[in-house]
Amino acid sequence: MVIETSRLLLREMNMGDAQDMLRLYSRPEVQKYTGESVITTLEGIYDKIDEKRKEYKKYGYGRWITFLKEDMQFVGWAGLSYLPEFDKIDLGYRFLTEFWGKGIATEVSKEILQYGFETLQLEEIIAIAMKENIASIKVMQKVGMQFDKYAPYEPGGEDYVWYTCSKNSILKS
Ligand SMILES: CC(C)(COP(=O)(O)OP(=O)(O)OC[C@H]1O[C@@H](n2cnc3c(N)ncnc32)[C@H](O)[C@@H]1OP(=O)(O)O)[C@@H](O)C(=O)NCCC(=O)NCCS
Repeated sequence: MVIETSRLLLREMNMGDAQDMLRLYSRPEVQKYTGESVITTLEGIYDKIDEKRKEYKKYGYGRWITFLKEDMQFVGWAGLSYLPEFDKIDLGYRFLTEFWGKGIATEVSKEILQYGFETLQLEEIIAIAMKENIASIKVMQKVGMQFDKYAPYEPGGEDYVWYTCSKNSILKS
């Protein structure tokens, strides 16, 4: 187990999680503001899981699969990802729609930031969202991140909203 919060458990994902991950990635509502396509095949999901597992190995952190503690129901994933094109570490979260609006992203993000700054000794963590993704931006604000800029995520692309936080700003608040 990598992280435990009052309601959730987070661990590294593996190929045995493919059916759960398919339930997440096959939903258009979930994928809508992620910039990623819907995935409807297990082969596509195996590639995703492989991608995430390579990150654990390379950086020692990544996007962790997330379960409800009380009954081990699959909720989605949350975690950190290194973005080589910006040399930044990004906080991200993605959950099944039935778990939205219950404060889960806020709860887990607070713990992930703490883990990032205290255990991993990171200096800065950022978060990026499409301007329309109000729920995601609210989470960034609720966990104490600061607005940084409007800037594209991909060269020549539309502007995204960028938030940032440092070890000092989060652990002292
Ligand atoms: C973004 C996401 C992770 C948020 O998860 P969550 O567990 O519902 O988030 P929380 O409940 O902690 O907080 C969401 C906040 O946004 C608010 N919110 C949600 N939709 C909103 C909207 N359309 N307008 C205004 N506020 C909205 C909620 O009311 C809540 O704020 P509150 O606690 O002040 O009421 C979830 O919606 C999700 O998985 N979306 C799909 C994947 C995704 O877009 N990931 C982020 C990519 S950047």
